[in-house]
Amino acid sequence: MTIPRPRRIFLTGFSGSGKSAVAGLVAAALGWRALDTDGIIEERAGRPISDIFARDREERFREMETEALREAARQTEVVVATGGGIVQSAANRRLMADGGFVVCLEGRPDILWQRLRDAGGSATERPLLAGPDPLGRIRALKARRQPFYALADYTVHTDSLGLPQVAEEVVRAWRRLSARAARDPDRLSDLPAGQEGATGAGAGDHPACWVNAESARYPVYVEWGALARLGERLREAGLSGAAHVISDDQVWHHYGEAILASLRQASFEADSYVVPAGEASKTLTTASHLYEWLASRRVERGHAVVALGGGMVGDLAGFTAATYLRGLPLVHVPTSLLAMVDASIGGKVAVNLSEAKNLVGAFYQPRLVVTDISALTTLPARELTSGWAEVVKHALIMDPDLLSTLETRVADLRRLEPEVTTAVVRRNVELKAQVVSEDEQETTGRRTILNYGHTVAHGLEAASDYEALLHGEAVAVGMAAAAEIGQRLGMTPLALAERQAAVLSSFGLPQEAPGIDPERALAAMALDKKVSGRAVRWVLLEGVGHPVLRDDVPATLVRQAVRRACGVAEKREGRRG
Ligand SMILES: NC(=O)c1ccc[n+]([C@@H]2O[C@H](COP(=O)([O-])OP(=O)(O)OC[C@H]3O[C@@H](n4cnc5c(N)ncnc54)[C@H](O)[C@@H]3O)[C@@H](O)[C@H]2O)c1
Repeated sequence: MTIPRPRRIFLTGFSGSGKSAVAGLVAAALGWRALDTDGIIEERAGRPISDIFARDREERFREMETEALREAARQTEVVVATGGGIVQSAANRRLMADGGFVVCLEGRPDILWQRLRDAGGSATERPLLAGPDPLGRIRALKARRQPFYALADYTVHTDSLGLPQVAEEVVRAWRRLSARAARDPDRLSDLPAGQEGATGAGAGDHPACWVNAESARYPVYVEWGALARLGERLREAGLSGAAHVISDDQVWHHYGEAILASLRQASFEADSYVVPAGEASKTLTTASHLYEWLASRRVERGHAVVALGGGMVGDLAGFTAATYLRGLPLVHVPTSLLAMVDASIGGKVAVNLSEAKNLVGAFYQPRLVVTDISALTTLPARELTSGWAEVVKHALIMDPDLLSTLETRVADLRRLEPEVTTAVVRRNVELKAQVVSEDEQETTGRRTILNYGHTVAHGLEAASDYEALLHGEAVAVGMAAAAEIGQRLGMTPLALAERQAAVLSSFGLPQEAPGIDPERALAAMALDKKVSGRAVRWVLLEGVGHPVLRDDVPATLVRQAVRRACGVAEKREGRRG
């Protein structure tokens, strides 16, 4: 039995390889029609691709591209020229492979560059190729896509061929090879093992996740060494022009020069404003200095503010970006563990007043978040330890598997072994992104689960004028208090409380804060309640991944737990050991 040939041909390859022209010639030779995914997108959107890139960002463009491909894949007797980046999506590769014959048009970077320069480049690649070293960018981008191009059913090397010769090669390959090739729709779906790491096309090339908040959608990149590619990431997100970096002196000392170099390499006009490290900088006064600086730099709408630092810088720079010119694009580059897994995701920005912390602020989502795990190597040890508290919290309220990883890999995590640390931070980012995507402004209660341990933590922090404990340390003590309350209410099993205690202590986190006055902590908690005008909503655990919100916790239980947290009460009878 003869196997019929597929009635669709897809041409893949980098911009400049001649896909559209060759599609036209092949279609003419076979008596078929030529299609072009970029053309379908523009027709559907009613505007040019450069505009889609600039206004809707690359991610939206990629969604439209998949739609266009789906439309093309529904037709027969068509030759489809595809966008240069289409092969990076496994779903796209499957759409092409399922009943189609896929031919890649290859070319050396310097030849592609010459052709692009002569022809003005394709609409999709042009924004990606802007900058001082376009050939370098073609090389880098092409190298990353190469393993995907290599999956094609057939490859034509176009360097020394004219367009008609390339078209002839495609037709010949289709006649000879396509019948067998197109029988397996999964053949292009997965990369051969080992190729990802070898080419750098691994996890780092894709966001760890997207935050899909009601007001904005943005990617979060988590990578060991991500800072080197910061400028590139900004460009991919559709930003251009100037980038104004705000940082603190401690972080700037380590990463300032590298950040400026990366931004300038990607053709940004980059400058910086560095504030003293520490919470004392997170004020309206500093914000007004930043406004003056931005005004002196003649900042325009569309210029980016890059927040390089821990949560303090993220909040301060975020607040400034949210309010200057009614909002400048914000890029978070978190450098502390707390900022990576918590503060940079979710869009809360604020400054402190003398009356209370974070009293003046907004919900303002960034355009993207770029997290370089290697920055943790310079974070002071106590800050690092403190950051693990939020990680443990995420595991307890949402992810039993993550909790097991924390228990078994604690030694590797504490010494920042790159692979497991990156994986754990990525998972935390995903978890936080999931929650804020569901409940951006804390209206449904979903986001409230993130407050596990925070009710008592706020009391302890306020009672010690934010001096005795770092935030994560206070949260660790607060989680111990919440577990105690949960146990007394018959909700939290003893085994879970003990498991929590063990993991907190394995990360070097405290569970008591001796020396803090429990009465002051209780008064601060009562004030929190008064300011919010609501009953305190306790987050308690019924099991790992099973948080429950309760607003009926008896005051006597709270008092007992806070006293114990401050080290002044009797140890609980029910606790073992
Ligand atoms: N927006 C939110 O959702 C949110 C959530 C939690 C906390 N916060 C805020 O975050 C702040 C606390 O964040 P934080 O713990 O990151 O504090 P931080 O920003 O003050 O950083 C702690 C210290 O570590 C230094 N540092 C940070 N990264 C470093 C690095 N890679 N190498 C060397 N030094 C480094 C800083 O200079 C600082 O001295 C508070 O202001 C808090 O209110 C905000």
